[in-house]
Amino acid sequence: MPLEIVAKDSVTIKAIKTALEAESLFVKPIIKEDSYRIIRTSIDEPKELISMFPGVEFREYQLAPSRNGLPVNGRDILSFHREYFSQYVKDSQIVEEELLNYLPTKYSIYPPMLLFNNSEKKSLLHEKVHKFFSNYNIDRTQYYSHLLNDFAPFKELTIIAINKPILVEDTLRQPHNLKLLYRDDGQPLDEFDDIWCQVAQNEIIQVWNPMYTMFSRGNIKEKKRVLDTFQDVEANDVVDLYCGIGYFTFSYLKLGCRNLFGFELNPWSVKGLWKGFDANDGFIPKTDNKGSVSRYRGDKEQYCHIYNENNEMSDQRLQEFRNQSTSGELLKIRHINLGLLPSSQQGWPVALRLLGSHNNWDVCSLSTLHIHENVSIEEINDGSFVKQTITKLEILGATRYQFNSTHLEKIKTFAPDVWHICLDVDVTLAATD
Ligand SMILES: C[S@@+](CC[C@H](N)C(=O)[O-])C[C@H]1O[C@@H](n2cnc3c(N)ncnc32)[C@H](O)[C@@H]1O
Repeated sequence: MPLEIVAKDSVTIKAIKTALEAESLFVKPIIKEDSYRIIRTSIDEPKELISMFPGVEFREYQLAPSRNGLPVNGRDILSFHREYFSQYVKDSQIVEEELLNYLPTKYSIYPPMLLFNNSEKKSLLHEKVHKFFSNYNIDRTQYYSHLLNDFAPFKELTIIAINKPILVEDTLRQPHNLKLLYRDDGQPLDEFDDIWCQVAQNEIIQVWNPMYTMFSRGNIKEKKRVLDTFQDVEANDVVDLYCGIGYFTFSYLKLGCRNLFGFELNPWSVKGLWKGFDANDGFIPKTDNKGSVSRYRGDKEQYCHIYNENNEMSDQRLQEFRNQSTSGELLKIRHINLGLLPSSQQGWPVALRLLGSHNNWDVCSLSTLHIHENVSIEEINDGSFVKQTITKLEILGATRYQFNSTHLEKIKTFAPDVWHICLDVDVTLAATD
């Protein structure tokens, strides 16, 4: 099956299109999907695509014939709806005004789930949609089945759900507002413990249960930056204080870190992370069959230790690890990831405590904190965010450390004029007289 590239950044899109055109591999048109652009190619060999565009997100596509004989337009949901409902109501203006104005046009494909956006104005559950279905005797189950089988028939989709924003105040980031509307696999709608979605980003597969764990596509850029920038990870140790389903954990493991210590409160995220190990069979460490404590990659000394508990326990857990596995020897903590929004400040003193108790500064003289926060554009542009962060770290570290901010990455917008950023801060021991 031919492959299509999912891209966001306009410079990348242009470069990909130009490169494809030069080889006569570009398939018109470029399709808009949420804030992404889908660039179709006539390449059907993943290796060929990866060698041309290393690290891009891609997937298969196919314009398959539909079961009911209606023409299918792979990803254009509006055309699909126009065509589908024209068999019930011939007057296209009525369909447009009484139905299409209220149906969602944005969705994500997270196999096996087709996830629609949901707002007050556009929803599969909008009262106007209910009214239209009942006025024209349209069977909702049949419609859902066609959506799964004819609209996106190449994706092995069996579930339709609708999405609402994640509540900021929910520490575990569980998408309580996700609602299942239809299952084509014979399972009841109130059974969802068996649903595991998968998406590949930067050639790393992420696995999660969408009812219990969030997935944010927009972090792809930051994961790529980690993969491209931090080769110094190899043979060093990394702590991921909010490891979730492994957005960054897998990137650090792929870079060859020696020990990865991950902390996560949500048991469902941890389950997804373990499933991710199986899905990424090949370059991610394999299980040592000793349960959920550590996994290793055969030929290399590489271990991953996941603790399904508050990161406040990390100091104690690293001490236990050192006592049991290294006869008390200190670690080489080269990176500490702090990926919690809207703020990771809870983890800052935890991170400094870990460096103070467990890092061997003689062999690992520099450790980098990756601080994720939501920050207003004013505070980014006038430098006050960086300044205040360094001041806060200096207070926490007393006079022991020197902090040097090296990079601020704007990852994605969180709200108008508010950015999800990652600030890299290098920590070294302060000079003593
Ligand atoms: C933004 S999500 C992290 C996303 C993550 N990088 C991933 O791959 O899913 C933040 C995660 O931190 C977890 N969390 C929040 N506070 C925590 C704490 N004090 N200790 C450990 N985990 C925590 C939440 O359960 C949530 O899964």
